[in-house]
Amino acid sequence: MIRNPEYPDSFLRQMEVVGSSDISQGASEQYWVEHKANMTWGTQEALSNVWNPQDVAIFGAGKCNDIRLLEVMQRGSVQNIDLYDLDADGLEIAIGYVQSRINSIMPEAINFVNFNPIVADVTFMMKSMLRKFNSIRADFTSDFAPVGAEREKKLIDAILNAIFGALDNRQIPEKQYDVIVSDCILSQILAAFEIQIEKLRCDLLKKAESSDALWEDVEASVHGVITQDHFNLLSQMTKPNGAVFVASDNTLLYRGKVSKAHFELLQSMQKKGELPSEERIRDFGGDYVVEELMVPRFKYMDGDITRMAEKHMPDFEVVDSKKWEWNRDPHELQNDGCVFGAEEVQGVVLKRK
Ligand SMILES: C[S@@+](CC[C@H](N)C(=O)[O-])C[C@H]1O[C@@H](n2cnc3c(N)ncnc32)[C@H](O)[C@@H]1O
Repeated sequence: MIRNPEYPDSFLRQMEVVGSSDISQGASEQYWVEHKANMTWGTQEALSNVWNPQDVAIFGAGKCNDIRLLEVMQRGSVQNIDLYDLDADGLEIAIGYVQSRINSIMPEAINFVNFNPIVADVTFMMKSMLRKFNSIRADFTSDFAPVGAEREKKLIDAILNAIFGALDNRQIPEKQYDVIVSDCILSQILAAFEIQIEKLRCDLLKKAESSDALWEDVEASVHGVITQDHFNLLSQMTKPNGAVFVASDNTLLYRGKVSKAHFELLQSMQKKGELPSEERIRDFGGDYVVEELMVPRFKYMDGDITRMAEKHMPDFEVVDSKKWEWNRDPHELQNDGCVFGAEEVQGVVLKRK
């Protein structure tokens, strides 16, 4: 069994967004064709930019439904692939699947590549951040909690201090890799922060005490800090001549049917950047086909992972980048060919200058 007592299942539940997709390996072969091809392309491209790459890490490997690991290990020089994820069950499935494929088609390769599942948090600070958030909750529900006009500001300060404190006091592994793949994990990390911050806000403030604009600023600055940190970590954990492949879903695509009136409303909301969430769009129901609405996944993610990588990884140069569509789950493919809630993914390959 692949487990790490430091990250029990209860931790995974507390994080809410974390966990491999519920799609099976078989279904991913059918529904994730484009996604798999591009994730494998980016990984191979990163490997091609390194002389004699031996050590590879995949951050957010989960069930590894999206990278053809057999193709990666067929490159002669690769000796070790560390699969990082918080989801131990997902990693177990990934390893089991690879081994069964190895046994059935190329048993001799098993001698050459070591698959190493690592149940860990690749921000290396979620645990201490959640602990700090719990103590904020205790402080704000105690008899000595701040009250009045300052309450909201004090809560925001406490949240930001907790995040900066957790970042400052963590330990980052010293291990370095020839190639690191950031496997559609950035959006999940950002979502985890967003959910936890939103929970504190909703639980600890009354509606009248809370200003949307202020919290949008908090969200944007936390997203900025955490995004930058993710790129820094990738840079720090890559060997001097190494390369990275960063892929993340950055935009939600909506296609489907709504009423004509709602379509016009949605168009005008799109112009102002005020589109409602997927569930709300579904509620609009009707016969009018929405060709395509594109909504940035997070406000801070400006829809361009390449631009973000260039900004945050100044020691690296962009080798290549691509965009593609990822239909998250088969149930999102409607019978009439309409897709709701698919995602646009962007992948960028970088090598050290
Ligand atoms: C969208 S999935 C990527 C798809 C996955 N490679 C697959 O093939 O199913 C993102 C993965 O990142 C993992 N994850 C999210 N936040 C994490 C964190 N802070 N540390 C490690 N893994 C995390 C999730 O458990 C999930 O398996």
